[in-house]
Amino acid sequence: MNKNFQKDIDLGLSALNKTLPSKYFYDEIGDALFVEIMNMPEYYLTNAEFDIFKNQNQQLIKALKLENNNFFELVELGAGDGTKTKQLLKALDDQNYNFKYAPIDISENALIQLKASVNNELPRIQIHPRQGDYFNVLADLKTSAHPIIVLFLGSNIGNLTDARAKEFIQKLDDNLKTGDKVVLGVDLIKPKSVVLPAYNDAQGITKRFNLNLLTRINKELGADFDIDTFEHQPEYNEEEGIARSFLVSTKDQIVSIKSLDKAFTFKKGEKIHMETSRKYNDLILNGILDGSSLKISDRLTDSQQLFADYILEKL
Ligand code: AVJ
Repeated sequence: MNKNFQKDIDLGLSALNKTLPSKYFYDEIGDALFVEIMNMPEYYLTNAEFDIFKNQNQQLIKALKLENNNFFELVELGAGDGTKTKQLLKALDDQNYNFKYAPIDISENALIQLKASVNNELPRIQIHPRQGDYFNVLADLKTSAHPIIVLFLGSNIGNLTDARAKEFIQKLDDNLKTGDKVVLGVDLIKPKSVVLPAYNDAQGITKRFNLNLLTRINKELGADFDIDTFEHQPEYNEEEGIARSFLVSTKDQIVSIKSLDKAFTFKKGEKIHMETSRKYNDLILNGILDGSSLKISDRLTDSQQLFADYILEKL
């Protein structure tokens, strides 16, 4: 069952520059820590995107060029708790748009909770959650004759390297038809004084979020990481617009992982790269979109210009 997890951890810790995939942050404890992160004063991303969905949903609807009498599907990749999306759903509902909301997530549990809250707060909305891999579900939808609007919010694309983001966009492009649209939420490139605290909060929640992956490896793979011997070290390079988080070993040590039947040595000061959080601007996004038939057709930003929701249209 956790064969991929095992393999990915082995690969990452065997590399010359050790690294662990940030997608594994999100076990039950990681999910709860991420909710805490979204509520921290330093983590501006969530509030900024909420500001767009709350205060500019009319502009968003206009940018999507939706027609009142033309049925469409609103597909959300990695829907989470839907706080931002519900602002848009409410506006669409109030204006009698004819659509279906299809949140996609790998977590069955997240979808059950989201469906319950949408049914409760917006009983007129048709919601059809789909559990599974984004692209399998999108491939199914490709046969649909209706226009598709894909929501990919929260700067989740930021966890991908530029090469991976290009592959992601290419796959998305392959699964959409002319006129379909994507709302892509990204954090904007900005000074280090704003970005770095978001990944280095005063309460140490982000540190726990990173260390939790070591704890998860201890629990699920029978490892013996002593998490007290790793320090959290976030960095932000303002020129490239990339934040990176590392865990640094505070001593020479050997960590064994039972299920791999292997041991890994760490030098004092040796780093494990834990996460990449890419920040965007038009130039960088256009570089990612280059070669696909998705083009930027509009862009909404919050009142402080911290975050952007780009509207991409498939030509
Ligand atoms: C969910 C990927 C957008 O990179 O900002 C928050 C995850 N990591 N704090 C981000 C995260 C550390 C977050 N994303």
